[in-house]
Amino acid sequence: MDLLDVIKQRRSVREYTDKLVEKEKLFKVLEAGRWSPSSGNVQNWRFVVVTEQGIKMQIAEACLGQFWLTGAPVIIVVASDESKLRMLFGQRGERFYSIQNCSVAIMNMMLEAQSIGLSTSWVGAYDAEKIRRVLKIEDPNITIRGILSLGYAKTTPPPPRRLDLDKLVYFNEFGNSIFK
Ligand SMILES: Cc1cc2nc3c(=O)[nH]c(=O)nc-3n(C[C@H](O)[C@H](O)[C@H](O)COP(=O)(O)O)c2cc1C
Repeated sequence: MDLLDVIKQRRSVREYTDKLVEKEKLFKVLEAGRWSPSSGNVQNWRFVVVTEQGIKMQIAEACLGQFWLTGAPVIIVVASDESKLRMLFGQRGERFYSIQNCSVAIMNMMLEAQSIGLSTSWVGAYDAEKIRRVLKIEDPNITIRGILSLGYAKTTPPPPRRLDLDKLVYFNEFGNSIFK
């Protein structure tokens, strides 16, 4: 399948069936994260795979009460190890690359999941301190950069509207339409 079709078919799924995610598929998804690009190839992402119901409940609570998360068979918390980023790039590393690198990894995992019949939703609304406590993260160099639900969709929402390209794309200078 053309990657563009995978991209267009992916939806943020918040209702999952009880079917467990096969280990091989889970590892394919993680592998997609591992092969993501990163600034200076620092690979600062760390993936915490959560399947235990009690921990999922605490994560859902820390995600500002997004309890639909407890219905996902797998939750992947994407954390960042800031130490190498800080050493190589200083503030730019911590403020920008940390988030950018982890976001690329999340997106790659989402697309791999979609291509093998799984569904995901990115969760960015969370209390990072609470997530750290739930996962027993004590190292101050580790920050939470995103959360991903993973499983088989029970219901897939219709595609939310996208802005047309002529509202997004400019030619040579910001504001110059390429469609004129
Ligand atoms: C950075 C980011 C944070 C998001 N946070 C949440 C979230 O906390 N909860 C949620 O249900 N969806 C969240 N989403 C999913 C968006 O709501 C969703 O991508 C958007 O509505 C478009 O729908 P689609 O993904 O089905 O195309 C987030 C998406 C991104 C990229």
